[in-house]
Amino acid sequence: MSRIAVNVQQGNVRINRHIYGNFSEHLGRCIYDGFWVGEGSPVPNTRGLRNDIIEALKKIKMPNLRWPGGCFADEYHWKDGIGPRSQRPKMINTHWGGVTEDNSFGSHEFLDLCARIGCEPYICGNVGSGTVQELSQWVEYMNFDGQSPMADLRKKNGREKPFNVRLWGIGNENWGCGGMMTPEYYADLFRRYAVYARNYGDTPLFKIACGPNSDNYHWTEVMMQKTYMKGNPRNSLHGLSLHYYTVPGDRPDRGSATVFNEKEWFVTMKKAYFMDELVQKHGAIMDQYDPEKYVALVVDEWGTWYDVEPGTNPGFLYQQNTLRDALVAGIHLNIFNNYAERVRIANIAQTINVLQSVILTEGAKMVLTPTYHVFDMYKVHQDAVKLPVYVECDNYTMSNISIPALSASASVDHEDCIHVSLCNIDPNTEQKVRLELRGASPSKVTGQIISSANMQDYNSFDQGDKVGIKEFKDMAISGSTITLRLPAKSVVTLEAV
Ligand code: AHR
Repeated sequence: MSRIAVNVQQGNVRINRHIYGNFSEHLGRCIYDGFWVGEGSPVPNTRGLRNDIIEALKKIKMPNLRWPGGCFADEYHWKDGIGPRSQRPKMINTHWGGVTEDNSFGSHEFLDLCARIGCEPYICGNVGSGTVQELSQWVEYMNFDGQSPMADLRKKNGREKPFNVRLWGIGNENWGCGGMMTPEYYADLFRRYAVYARNYGDTPLFKIACGPNSDNYHWTEVMMQKTYMKGNPRNSLHGLSLHYYTVPGDRPDRGSATVFNEKEWFVTMKKAYFMDELVQKHGAIMDQYDPEKYVALVVDEWGTWYDVEPGTNPGFLYQQNTLRDALVAGIHLNIFNNYAERVRIANIAQTINVLQSVILTEGAKMVLTPTYHVFDMYKVHQDAVKLPVYVECDNYTMSNISIPALSASASVDHEDCIHVSLCNIDPNTEQKVRLELRGASPSKVTGQIISSANMQDYNSFDQGDKVGIKEFKDMAISGSTITLRLPAKSVVTLEAV
């Protein structure tokens, strides 16, 4: 029997809702076909944006959306994406399939999308191939309420009031596709670009620096040393980004999204757990410079990365999404909840039709993936108070390598409802769990579960509800203790009141 203890009286940190964010790049069919179909499309839309997608993302309370990239961000010139669509210049999307980008989805369309979803925009600026002036002017265009060249241009394009965009990325992966820079060189550039990204009105910018690739701890060290300026909020970095993808195979064979065996399942789970070590170790370096945790760790690209679906454009990164992805999502969100003091923004890559998507589309059809359902089930943790969780559980072992069979996180919301999320990553064995809610005596407990008969099950355009949320009943409550049986390969969220 596994034992989990939740200390209900020891919550003191809020889980920032922004760790439930998404990332959407001009890549494959994420923007075009995904969000944007254009005003003349037979697919039901409002001002060119798909109605079904907006409704689905509202339902999971998506708190923020990062855009326009990714690698695309560092070759995007924002002025190409404003003004009458017919007059916008075209460009080549060199990173992603070499396709022509016609810029019909630009700043105004993105801000319209965010307003309709009710989420905060998170814009990633161009440092790799853009100028300081370009980024400075984008901020002015978005945020200045008054008379100025950029504010006047915005008004000419139909928007009188500023958009007040708070979240700004200063470049993306500048150690790689964003310019192949050293951390020392990028840190100096960050300082320069950040100075001219001005605060206007009541919108102080939250500036997010390009952070490490996976376990590049040196990058974090240099960034904290050179760009964290204690007591100087105007010029300091406010967030440091971290990118880490769960890739089961070694490139170029990353493995199939749907055709895999238990060994690949195991490796995927093990690699998903690696996020815990990353957050902990990067966090420890940040603690040396910033024990107050002023600077947020922003995990603004995470998720699974497999081979593309057979027959699709290799540059479009389109992959299906199975129950395995649901477990990966559950593991990550539990980690982010548990490190809420430092991780305050995170973005799954990517929202629609790219990598670990929450939604897939095909023409007018839309499918909600198992990952979507995890975000739906976990939304109860948004802005709730994190509760410390202690887990003693069996291991899931393969070829003499062991990883914990259970992952967990917990929170209490403003109505005193306690939520505990649990993943049983073992695909063969159910876990009997004794869950103690120390300091609470709930009178009622209810639950939801995501599971399916096979590890490889997914939602298709013909059968969109194979993997979804069902009621979970296999539990009993006695005083502060809940005993439950967690089925093999399942994600569960309990609510105790
Ligand atoms: O999400 C796909 C790509 O992965 C992004 O463009 C880049 O930032 C990362 O390498």
